[in-house]
Amino acid sequence: MMLLVASLLAWLAAGRVLAPLRNLSATVKSISESDLSQRINTQGEGEVAQLGRIFNAMMDRIENAFDTQRNFINDAGHELKTPITIIRGHLELMDTDPQSQQETVELVIDELDRMNRLVEDLVLLAKAERLDFLQIETIELTSFVTELFSKLQKLGERNWNLDNGIVLGKMTGDRQRITQAIINLANNAVQHTITDSLIVFGAKIEGDRVEFWIRDTGNGIAADEQKRIFDRFARIKNARRRSEGSGLGLAIVKTIVEAHGGAINLQSQLGIGSTFFLVFPLEFNEKQN
Ligand SMILES: Nc1ncnc2c1ncn2[C@@H]1O[C@H](COP(=O)(O)OP(=O)(O)OP(=O)(O)O)[C@@H](O)[C@H]1O
Ligand SMILES: [Mg+2]
Repeated sequence: MMLLVASLLAWLAAGRVLAPLRNLSATVKSISESDLSQRINTQGEGEVAQLGRIFNAMMDRIENAFDTQRNFINDAGHELKTPITIIRGHLELMDTDPQSQQETVELVIDELDRMNRLVEDLVLLAKAERLDFLQIETIELTSFVTELFSKLQKLGERNWNLDNGIVLGKMTGDRQRITQAIINLANNAVQHTITDSLIVFGAKIEGDRVEFWIRDTGNGIAADEQKRIFDRFARIKNARRRSEGSGLGLAIVKTIVEAHGGAINLQSQLGIGSTFFLVFPLEFNEKQN
């Protein structure tokens, strides 16, 4: 009799202990790629509840990552649809008049160029997930800054200035990608200023970091937009001049800087202008990535 009671109690106790585990296992089974919203009931204390909370937090991150990916693909699809619609519309309406044919061809080539740029940007962002994204080499900053400054001046008829003179020193990083990041910033500066406006390119070494900046005297960016513009496909809605780009430029700059273990910062005031700062470690460190 005693034995029976004891085993009954043991059985009940084991059931109570195992119930949350069964719940956990049932929830895990019900989670699939199409439904990531299931969570485990984590009431109470104890190790199983703790495990449940860790599991739920992990599921939150996974669900988030999936959502981000889905939105990204969705947005990319929409961006690609626009030029396709334009091209199609023009080809359908094309008549036999050579003059109008010429115009259509030019327009189609223009749209194809835009699509091509977009696809290149998308490929670059996808590559950023890979280990060989960066080709690290030693960069002689003096010549790098001088050469880059002369490239920038070709981007538009502006009053280009070089801040802080010439930087002396070396860094390790991906020369092409860093160039690309700074050119993206300079392109934005050109797009948001008028002829002969002041645009400043600067560089300096401070401690174990090197900082590059692009300052423009354009229309500036409102405080509540300053975070958002680094997101993929983000463009300011009520901007005076609507962006003709896809809104991937700053997302690419951020990706490049962060792949180097650096950071991007923005100071901007409406009506006065914007300064974008890129801060890189002087020595690229494989491990931090
Ligand atoms: N220097 C700047 N001054 C004012 N607004 C800016 C500046 N740089 C970026 N922005 C705003 O931030 C948005 C996002 O910039 P981003 O470079 O990511 O995209 P884009 O220039 O619109 O397109 P893309 O660079 O892909 O051709 C721009 O559309 C613009 O509204
Ligand atoms: Mg841009």
